[in-house]
Amino acid sequence: RSGSFVPAVVIGTGYGAAVSALRLGEAGVPTLMLEMGQLWNKPADDGNVFCGMLSPDRRSSWFKSRTEAPLGSFLWLDVINRDIDPYAGVLDKVHFDQMSVYVGRGVGGGSLVNGGMAVVPKRSYFEEVLPRVDAAEMYDRYFPRANSMLKVNHIDKGWFEATEWYKFARVSREQAGKADLSTTFVPNVYDFGQMQREAAGEAPKSALAGEVIYGNNHGKQSLDKTYLAAALGTGKVTIETLHQVRAIRQQPDGSYVLSVDQNDADGKTVAHKEIACRHLFLGAGSLGSTELLVRARDTGALPDLNAEVGAGWGPNGNIMTGRANHVWNPTGAHQSSIPALGIDDWNNPTAPVFAEIAPMPAGLETWVSLYLAITKNPERGTFVYDKATDRAALRWTRDQNTPAVDAAKSLFDRINRANGTMYRYDLFGPQLKNFSDDFCYHPLGGCVLGKATDGYGRVAGYHNLYVTDGALIPGSIGVNPFVTITALAERNIERIIAEDVKAA
Ligand code: FDA
Repeated sequence: RSGSFVPAVVIGTGYGAAVSALRLGEAGVPTLMLEMGQLWNKPADDGNVFCGMLSPDRRSSWFKSRTEAPLGSFLWLDVINRDIDPYAGVLDKVHFDQMSVYVGRGVGGGSLVNGGMAVVPKRSYFEEVLPRVDAAEMYDRYFPRANSMLKVNHIDKGWFEATEWYKFARVSREQAGKADLSTTFVPNVYDFGQMQREAAGEAPKSALAGEVIYGNNHGKQSLDKTYLAAALGTGKVTIETLHQVRAIRQQPDGSYVLSVDQNDADGKTVAHKEIACRHLFLGAGSLGSTELLVRARDTGALPDLNAEVGAGWGPNGNIMTGRANHVWNPTGAHQSSIPALGIDDWNNPTAPVFAEIAPMPAGLETWVSLYLAITKNPERGTFVYDKATDRAALRWTRDQNTPAVDAAKSLFDRINRANGTMYRYDLFGPQLKNFSDDFCYHPLGGCVLGKATDGYGRVAGYHNLYVTDGALIPGSIGVNPFVTITALAERNIERIIAEDVKAA
């Protein structure tokens, strides 16, 4: 047991955390980041930092004895997952009663495992979701700042049209077109120049070797290469890995004390630390930040947290589905793991959908067109503290996803009708299932801006306590969320440094 004091602590190293740490460091504030996952920079015996998608090993998963890939089956067969040793791997699937949530674990959080799709939401929907945030300021200043810091880049359209690696996307675009649906190019943080060099045989393959959900060995400009590198470069920020924050309490002088377990990569706790700080920033993600606050409120450690803590959670309307193409319409044995197109039907008045055209990089022809649909589902879940397990349980029922499934169905029924095609029923486990309604990639909410916090992420009822991450967004943003999380964090930390930190 050791005790120490730092002016600022940031919990987590995902988007909200990384932005906050960089700006605190630039402001000269000594800042400690605590991350429960590992730093992914050391090659293993096979010469790679991360393992591939088709032959996953223990590096793939956060303490599982079998991998839990989102597409669990093919022809209903469990051919995709592998037995592995439990280890502090990079992708976690957190199971709640009727919903599972994929999250990244490691320095960079979700940026290590996500598809890199960098999408600014439609302004009208942003205004609907976060009406008290000045949209002009967001769209003029903070979204551009986020895009530039994240190194968002665009695919070369000529190359996209010609390369075998995006045939799957062109096939889906043509089929959407037959249903009078339009597609849009989606920017990404994966370096498309590197991807073209991969295709030309001039660079080692990563996106073109199926790498993504278990980490990219090349090309992905994840947070460790952007915001976090810049944060460390200030000389004021340090990162402790394999440090999991368990509990937060406050001392009479207003400072916060964190109870932290330091673990090894096999999960053994090697030290318990108590770390005190003046300013505490929660960037542990929608699940992580909300759990810490729900626990703090309901164990009496921070009793003045309000009833909104835990509320307003949603899966961003995420629904996955796959379509079966005709044999004369193959999608290609070679598919880039990085999506480049989305079907944009968000202006549909009855069932808005933005559907990412997802790859299925199986290395062989599957005739599958795969999609991650983002729908506008008004249903919300709530996290409640479960004393018996000391965990936050998610109150969310499967049928709350019915509006999302219905919206996705109306769009893909249209595409199937126009093309004489069908759904695939074999991709989501042993049962007949054409829509995944029980997992998501985009957990949002739990500490909603302006409800559990003020308009800048200051937690209601406390001073110097902040939420910085996806927990602030009330369950839905209509597109892939990390650019919004980043831009909102930029906006909030600017205000907090000026008013709370510099003034102190
Ligand atoms: P984020 O989850 O990134 O980071 C939280 C960090 O805190 C993690 O590193 C975690 O280990 C750590 N932590 C949690 N609890 C802790 C504790 N108690 N102590 C210490 N550390 C703790 N989005 C997008 O815009 N485009 C895309 O293409 C995709 N694709 C995609 C694919 C897949 C497979 C996934 C899983 C997700 C995506 N996403 C995405 C979603 C995106 O990655 C996600 O919205 C952001 O990473 C969320 O950022 P946050 O800052 O909220 O937390």
